[in-house]
Amino acid sequence: MRILAPSLLAADFKNLERDIKAVEKAGAMYLHLDVMDGTFVPSISFGMPVIRALRSCTDMVFDVHMMVEEPARYADDMRESGADLICIHAEACRHLDSSIARVRQTGAKVGVALNPATPVSAVDLVLPLVDMVLVMTVNPGFGGQKFIPYTLDKVKDLRRRIDELGLDTDIQVDGGVTLNNAGELLRAGANVLVAGTAVFKGDAGENAGRFLELFDTVQGSGGL
Ligand code: DX5
Ligand code: ZN
Repeated sequence: MRILAPSLLAADFKNLERDIKAVEKAGAMYLHLDVMDGTFVPSISFGMPVIRALRSCTDMVFDVHMMVEEPARYADDMRESGADLICIHAEACRHLDSSIARVRQTGAKVGVALNPATPVSAVDLVLPLVDMVLVMTVNPGFGGQKFIPYTLDKVKDLRRRIDELGLDTDIQVDGGVTLNNAGELLRAGANVLVAGTAVFKGDAGENAGRFLELFDTVQGSGGL
């Protein structure tokens, strides 16, 4: 299934509830929540207290992108705060296999994220253990960056590996996703598209609606 995951990082922080309701009404199924620790990535964003407060605003799936060193330390707290899907970076876990298991124990879905320069082979052995792989299409840490073109080949490569193994793992892409490159990403095999600026800059409901219309028209391998 193709899923739009608007990234709250680009929303109006004075009006989070309003912006969340706008994208939910438009039909976005995931809300992408970027948690940054100032160590794994340069910036600091928000964490459990904010996520917990937002939980009562919406029924959308809370897709938490942990840009945090050793993120499994926070798995229980994050789950209790309302996370439905917890995505951890392969580069941030010294013991990726046990970190995946820790997240799995919470009952949340598990994702593993890869920075642009991390090869797809980094997740080869754990593919059967996760629900989603996030291919970062910018270097994580900030919204509003430009899509890095070589990451498209990583999406194609990953889709081929997932298909070869007969898995139904989701492929998420995050960073610089716009209406102009969304079609190409879907055709490459991505099926969960994160978009921050492209959704929340301007009319969030209308922008989300445009992405969802595109999802219905583009042919491709990812999640159809
Ligand atoms: C970047 C974050 C992204 C970011 C995407 O580190 O992981 O989720 O909010 O923002 P855009 O869509 O503006 O590139
Ligand atoms: Zn993100």
